[in-house]
Amino acid sequence: MLQPQANVETTHSAEDDPRNADIQIYVDGVLKHRDDAKVSVYDSGFMLGDGMWEGMRLYNGKWAFFDDHMDRLFDSCKAVSLDIGMDRAGVLEALTMTAAANGMTHDVHCRLMVTRGVKIHPFQHPKLSQSGPTMVIIMEHSKPVSTLQAKGIRLATVPQVRGLPMSQDAKYNSHSKLNCVIACLQAEQAGADEGLMLDPHGFVNTTNGCNFFIVRRGEVWTSTGDYCMNGVTRQKVIDLCRANDIPVHERNFSLFEAYNADEAFLTGTFGAQTPVADIDGRAIGTDGGRGPVFQRIRELYAALVQESTR
Ligand SMILES: Cc1ncc(COP(=O)(O)O)c(C=O)c1O
Repeated sequence: MLQPQANVETTHSAEDDPRNADIQIYVDGVLKHRDDAKVSVYDSGFMLGDGMWEGMRLYNGKWAFFDDHMDRLFDSCKAVSLDIGMDRAGVLEALTMTAAANGMTHDVHCRLMVTRGVKIHPFQHPKLSQSGPTMVIIMEHSKPVSTLQAKGIRLATVPQVRGLPMSQDAKYNSHSKLNCVIACLQAEQAGADEGLMLDPHGFVNTTNGCNFFIVRRGEVWTSTGDYCMNGVTRQKVIDLCRANDIPVHERNFSLFEAYNADEAFLTGTFGAQTPVADIDGRAIGTDGGRGPVFQRIRELYAALVQESTR
C-alpha cells in the first residue's frame, strides 16, 4: 500500500493521521477501501483531465461554504456540458454517506471529483464518454501542519503564466492542472515552496495552488480576479474585509509592490490563510509575512467558519 510520506512537506501538508491509512472512498455510489478504490483507464479524467473537482472542509459535521462550492462545481460542469447526474442534494447525500462510512465529522478535507466518465475508445471526443459521469470522493482527516503558519511559505516567481480566459479559463477547477503543475515544478526547481504566477500583462496574479494577497500600509490588495481561480476563500476574505472596514482592492499590481509589501498571504480551503515569508528571496515585512492585518483576517475567517458550521 502506498502511504503518504511524513517527510514530504508541501503547502498542503497535513499532520500525520494513521486513520487515513484505512479510509473508505466513494466511487460511483460504492464505498471502497483506499487500496481498492479505482477508476477505469478509459476514464475521461485519467485520459484527458476532463473533469471538475472541489476541495472542501468538514467541521462539526457540516461542510463549510457548501453552497459556494456547489455554485462553482455546477457552473463549471454546465460550462463544459458535463452532466453530474445528480442535483446538489444528491451530492450532499454522497458526501454524507462517505463521511458516515469513515466516522468523520471534524477537521476533514474532501476532494470531490466528477469526470465525463468512461470512454469507449481512447480518444478526445466527448461523445466517446457514453456511460455517464464518474464521481469519486476522497475524505481525509486533515489538520494543516503548524510549520505552515510558523515558517510561512517561500514563493518564487515562475515563467509559467496564467492564461487568458479564451485559452483555458482559470475559473475551471478542472482535473487538468498542468498549467499549475508546471508552475509548481518551476518553483521547486528554484528552491521555493510554491510558484507565484503572473498574468499575461506581467501583473502579479496568483500561485499555482492558492490565491495571493498582499498588505500595504493597512490596505489589502489582490489581483483583479481576471486570470485566477475564483477561490471560495479568496471571496470570503474580500467580503470579510468589506464588512469589517479593512480597505481591500482587487487591482493590478507588479512584483515591485509585492516585494515591498508589509504582509503577504495565500488563501485556500486547505490552509485558510497562510503567511508568505519571502518572494524570490526578498523577506516580506519583518515577521515572516505576518502582521496585524493578516492576524485580524485569520481570526475573522476562523469565526466565520465556526459560525457557518455550528
Ligand atoms: C489554482 C487554485 N487557486 C486557488 C485555489 C483556492 O480555492 P478555494 O479557496 O476555493 O479553496 C485552488 C483550490 O482549488 C486552486 O486550485
